[in-house]
Amino acid sequence: MADFEHVFDAPPEGAAADWTIPQNWDAYTEVEHQTWDTLYARQMEVLPGRACEAFLRGLEALDLNTGGIPDFAAMNAKLKALTGWTVVCVPGLVPDDVFFDHLANRRFVSGQFIRKPDQLDYLQEPDIFHDVFGHVPMLTDPDFAAYMEAYGKGGQRAASLGLLPNLARLYWYTVEFGLMREAGGLRIYGAGIVSSATESVFALEAPSPNRIGFDLERVMRTLYRIDDFQQVYFVIDSLDQLKRDTLQDFGPIYQRLAGAGTIAVEEIVPGDEVITRGTQTYAARGGRFAA
Ligand SMILES: [Fe+2]
Repeated sequence: MADFEHVFDAPPEGAAADWTIPQNWDAYTEVEHQTWDTLYARQMEVLPGRACEAFLRGLEALDLNTGGIPDFAAMNAKLKALTGWTVVCVPGLVPDDVFFDHLANRRFVSGQFIRKPDQLDYLQEPDIFHDVFGHVPMLTDPDFAAYMEAYGKGGQRAASLGLLPNLARLYWYTVEFGLMREAGGLRIYGAGIVSSATESVFALEAPSPNRIGFDLERVMRTLYRIDDFQQVYFVIDSLDQLKRDTLQDFGPIYQRLAGAGTIAVEEIVPGDEVITRGTQTYAARGGRFAA
């Protein structure tokens, strides 16, 4: 999404008209493969019991732990057979219309590079670990797969109505930072959380953030922060709920949103289903979790 400053105006040299580039898997170095393995192992120390079942099932189905960065050719064969999705590489962040067009056609875009070994917790823009480990397992779930396609199609329409900020918030609070009810508690499905060892714990267990029941219009009005852990997480009942909510006609919703203001990150508003009222002490202290 367009939250990082790195968008070219036109496909850079070496990219196709749809902005894709080859993964060039043979060119990854041993150190880069080891970085994947290190990050993978770190996440698996925290995710069992915290990540939702669909994520863990997807991770297993895609076999992303065969040693090093996954080869997209092999991964895509499995993913396509499951839900019709594939993953393509792009050179950094792409314009919104390109992003939406890929999603609408069940193609997820991924960075090609991986973070440096001395920056395991630092991400200026999404790398292949965030994009593949974080996002792709969920694309094996039929409901989530349908949601993402609908999101891409909705994005094309929202762009024409000037409502992209509203839609970007929906993506943020579901695809990137969503929580869901499962197994009598809360579980993670958002890619920004499941790809971060520290936020995986913070999102579920810290007393600081608010956790609020998902409401589509409420979420689309809520501002978000891109520089630190979230101050609010929204909790869906199921992936089926997410799919059904987004397959409805957004026309009336957009009409209401046009007259509605935004909601601050830490705010609780009338009608909220408050699951956890956070202390907000983490943000009040100035944030930055000591990893
Ligand atoms: Fe992401």
